[in-house]
Amino acid sequence: MVQNKRVIGIIGGSGIYAIEALDAVQRVEVETPWGKPSDSLVKGTIADVDLVFLARHGNGHAIPPHQVNYRANIDALKRAGVTDLISLSACGSFKEALPPGMFVIADQFIDRTGGREKSFFESGFVAHVSMADPVCPALAEALEISCSELSIPNSHGGTYICIDGPQFSSRAESNLYKSWGCDVIGMTAMPEAKLAREAELPYAIAAMVTDYDCWNESEGAVEVAKVLETIKANKDNAAKLIENIAVRLGPERTPSPSGVEKMLDMAVITPPSA
Ligand code: ADE
Repeated sequence: MVQNKRVIGIIGGSGIYAIEALDAVQRVEVETPWGKPSDSLVKGTIADVDLVFLARHGNGHAIPPHQVNYRANIDALKRAGVTDLISLSACGSFKEALPPGMFVIADQFIDRTGGREKSFFESGFVAHVSMADPVCPALAEALEISCSELSIPNSHGGTYICIDGPQFSSRAESNLYKSWGCDVIGMTAMPEAKLAREAELPYAIAAMVTDYDCWNESEGAVEVAKVLETIKANKDNAAKLIENIAVRLGPERTPSPSGVEKMLDMAVITPPSA
């Protein structure tokens, strides 16, 4: 049966550890077949819309990007009834036109990560979901409209390259990714977006630019102190964005134009009898 109620999942990245505007807050400890998610789920409402918040890096930012249990996070949110997933994460920029403070609503990804668990489907049950268009256009558009209404500088579209980290890129890597036409760089959207797709969850990302990656020699190397400073300045914008988008999307679920909710109908290759 199709669930008619919308439940917005928010995965908060660096600097976003809570949603202050949430009413009727309930913290729920959960465990999944993939292990524990990064933190307890925080359930609540904004203007009668249900939300579930998860801090990607856990309480006190103790989990580095390469050790996030992405499968447990997505599974926990899916089991909590999430119907629409919005990821907030910090990123570096490859373009002067995307300066620190800009919210980039990326719509493509390049996955340069390795050694992360990237699929719910393991030996015995094989599925290949399409990642051609990994972002839900309706959610991305809602993010863009909300940002613009709030006068948050934003750019819709663009490619997010995901590296393992936790180290920032070398200058050679940074120049390479820039030459590929990437717009922003981060350490967490992959395999998060892949797993959201396998879980048939519409996904969109607001990647908040905190720095120019080190290609920009006039800015020098990326430093955590500078990143944190920009995150601090962005925090209020992120909070306002969540409130605004909850009201914009409303309590009633609308199917994603991407058809992601039926993604597995076409993706499973193992026959039922196998
Ligand atoms: N997160 C924030 N800034 C970053 C950068 N320059 N590279 C990778 N991840 C980041």
